[in-house]
Amino acid sequence: MTSILAPSQKILTPHLEIRGGARLSGEVRVTGAKNSALVLMAASLLSAEPLRLRNVPGLSDIQGMVEILESLGVDSKRGESSVELNGSGLNQSSPPYELVNGLRASFFCIGPLLARLGVARVPLPGGCQIGARPVVEHVKGLKALGAQVTIEHGVVSAVVPGRGHRLTGARIHLDCPSVGATETLMMAAALAEGETIIENAAQEPEVVDLAGLIIAMGGKVRGAGTPSITIVGMERLHGADYMVIPDRIEAGTLLLAGAITRSCLRVTPVIPDHLGAVISKLEEAGCKLEADGIGMTISADRIRAVDLRTQPFPGFPTDLQAPFMSLLATAEGTSVITEAIFENRLQHVAELQRMGAAIRTQGNTAFVEGVPGLSGAPVTGSDLRASAAMVLAGLAAEGVTMVQGLQHLDRGYDNLEGKLNGIGANIQRHGL
Ligand code: EPZ
Repeated sequence: MTSILAPSQKILTPHLEIRGGARLSGEVRVTGAKNSALVLMAASLLSAEPLRLRNVPGLSDIQGMVEILESLGVDSKRGESSVELNGSGLNQSSPPYELVNGLRASFFCIGPLLARLGVARVPLPGGCQIGARPVVEHVKGLKALGAQVTIEHGVVSAVVPGRGHRLTGARIHLDCPSVGATETLMMAAALAEGETIIENAAQEPEVVDLAGLIIAMGGKVRGAGTPSITIVGMERLHGADYMVIPDRIEAGTLLLAGAITRSCLRVTPVIPDHLGAVISKLEEAGCKLEADGIGMTISADRIRAVDLRTQPFPGFPTDLQAPFMSLLATAEGTSVITEAIFENRLQHVAELQRMGAAIRTQGNTAFVEGVPGLSGAPVTGSDLRASAAMVLAGLAAEGVTMVQGLQHLDRGYDNLEGKLNGIGANIQRHGL
């Protein structure tokens, strides 16, 4: 099939070339959760014994986190889908700027570094495409645990004064249920003197996974997955061998691939409790979903408009707002989608409009009037979930869609095009 692009339109930057219209079928595998693996890797700093994490996804962010931990003195060994980290050689309290600059998750080091060494200097993670991404709650909580924290020239410097430089347990109330702040404070409290209670804590499955790891390392945590988490600090934590939970956002993205192509598809493994809000929205939109104890089968023919509003867990996850919008762009009727977590996470609207979607926005709300079909076009993903949304739209579009922004996509999805081609899609990667 000849390319639809005029020579002048040839795309030179790395992109995916997607020939839309194929039905998908069969079974597709979900890998380990990026947003759990990254924080569990940072938790290796809490112990002087080896931590082995299994079911770790092969993503650029994971390698980035390995390099940051190695710069602090942690030994690492990568396996096929595992990583072994040994914090016994920890000898630095400040990861180098050039390594942390591109990886927001590097900020997860500040809590365990303070807990283990009593000192930490970590550059502010800074904003990104989707919002300012402040760390006010993280800093407030560390101060409540007894750290002196200053922010100068974009670097957060924290030190625990006094004998032994050990943090002291405290009752902390978060102004917002920040996932990163909850996880940072859980790790800091794990070695603090006494008991810490985090009120208005995030309840995401990745928070529960971190609690599971801390307990496996000999720590004491209860209430993870509820708004109130209690951590009793220990003198030290031992090593562990721990399995990362499946990536619920990747699972949701793959279920949406089945829905947008009107296919019947099995996605595995899926933990239904991790996707409650998404499953109920897919059913409301007309999909049939069946859990079989390990995976989940989705089948779809007609898709109806639904309204959704992103919220902290167990509400609808902001990370699936863009992928779900691609589905609703082809639904019957008009959907109202409100992004209530991040201040600037509707940038995929303009790209979907290039493919013929009929979407109007007002502030952080998008009014999506379903169209009978999308048409392929060159589009760009502005963050990792927007890039995934463009891939989904390309699967359903008539003709060829070229998706750029792979540097975002590859941060969050382990070989997405390979997985989709394995169930009938027609996607070619061009460029690195
Ligand atoms: C985590 O980010 C995830 N990243 C994000 O996934 C996810 O979208 C987000 O949680 C929400 O679920 C990782 O786990 C590595 P937050 P995090 O602190 O911890 C505001 C993806 O695509 N806030 O819960 O940074 C903040 O501005 C990424 O995989 C404050 O106001 O999210 C945001 O609007 C994107 N003050 C909201 O809370 C603070 O001190 C949620 O942020 C902290 C946060």
